[in-house]
Amino acid sequence: MSKRNIKIAIPLILILGLGILTFIRWNAWFGNPEEPAYTTEKKIGRLTLTLGNQGEYSRAFSWVFGEEVSQGTLYLTKVGSQDTTTIPAKCDVCPSRSGKSAYFRAFADQLDHGSTYSYQVRNGDIASEWHQFNTLADSTKESFSFLYFGDIQDSDSSDYTRRVMNEIYDQNKETQFVLLGGDFIERPMDMYYNMAYDGLGRMATEVPILAVTGNHEYLKGIVRKIDSRFAYAFPYYLASKVKENHVFTFTYGNAQFFLLDSNREFWNLSDQREWLEAEMAKSTAKWMIVVLHHPIYSLRGGLNNFFVKQNFQSAVEGGKTLKKIDLVLQAHEHGYARKRTPMTDGKSTTPLYSVSYFSDKAYFQSFDGDYERWGTANRYYQKISINGDSLFFRTYTDQHELYDEVILCYNDSDKRATLAIDKAQEIPEKVIVPDWFRQVKGEKKTKKYEQSIQEWKEKKGK
Ligand SMILES: [Fe+2]
Repeated sequence: MSKRNIKIAIPLILILGLGILTFIRWNAWFGNPEEPAYTTEKKIGRLTLTLGNQGEYSRAFSWVFGEEVSQGTLYLTKVGSQDTTTIPAKCDVCPSRSGKSAYFRAFADQLDHGSTYSYQVRNGDIASEWHQFNTLADSTKESFSFLYFGDIQDSDSSDYTRRVMNEIYDQNKETQFVLLGGDFIERPMDMYYNMAYDGLGRMATEVPILAVTGNHEYLKGIVRKIDSRFAYAFPYYLASKVKENHVFTFTYGNAQFFLLDSNREFWNLSDQREWLEAEMAKSTAKWMIVVLHHPIYSLRGGLNNFFVKQNFQSAVEGGKTLKKIDLVLQAHEHGYARKRTPMTDGKSTTPLYSVSYFSDKAYFQSFDGDYERWGTANRYYQKISINGDSLFFRTYTDQHELYDEVILCYNDSDKRATLAIDKAQEIPEKVIVPDWFRQVKGEKKTKKYEQSIQEWKEKKGK
């Protein structure tokens, strides 16, 4: 074949291949299962306590009630005082593909430090129970902890999820807030919102819950569209969006958090990167933490999440500047892994990257991305404790067993030399084909997974 013909044939073959792939994967990439029709009763549902837009001493409250605009009110009392403040809620009717709900949101800012508040929401004669939450004390501004959960994405296991979530909450009552790493819902359908709230248990109303977007919060399409309910459920996004990107930043004590919207198209990701870099440049926080759904370093091959890596890696790692991110909390790939950043002297520094999940689903891993430690046998959650110049990153299984531990030691004179110390060397790694995978994915995929695990073991010398 002449050179000229080869030059013509290669693009044609590529276009044809892409066409065939698009045809085969059309539903997976662009198809949306229909949402069953639903109605929203006139009762208070999906009550959520979250942060407002004014930092650690602000709170937002969201709930659904019926299908029409009506008057909703937040009643807020500082425990020990005799005063109850009433705060009128804003209301929007939120239509989705197969029904609608009236979504309410109320905000309370400049709360007193180190205080306990009780609150109730009301719509006419119908009231929620009274719930309580705490605010950060001045004495613990540099010493606090929070929890992180990767995908919860509950479809039919919310009884188990709720039981474990409540256990975790009981064991960590001092937690200041809870971060969810996206895929809070199984699909953008009302029934799955209800299931997700069932799974959250008491935490939904007693400790601020913040969620980043995952792909399951989006309706698929050539340009993806976020489900209309999401930003009303987590209303800090309504004032923090950058164009149509659901990004949010907040400070808490000596830390600043940056929530990214990683499911977007590459041109939207570049807007987010500009926003992230600008917010990082302004930050005076000691610790900087990014939360995003899609891992910057994929567990499943270098080309996975290509645009996410291309857009965020250099910003997160800080290039030659002192402004780099310390901890990156990720999800999506339904496996557990973490990696520190190697230095030339053999020690490790930040960013510390982790990928985690709390769903019963467990996906295939190709053990990519230079992660140092892996886990495939459990659901996992993280407890992150900040204590002045130290940040303790601890991963637990859903049996509440410590599975991983890294300590970050802040270097005041050179942030690039902040140490990341592996404290988990004595904890065995548990890497097996998960039961869920074996049952759902069948023999052929299980064999492929077993082979992948074997290769990983050989590579690690296990
Ligand atoms: Fe996901």
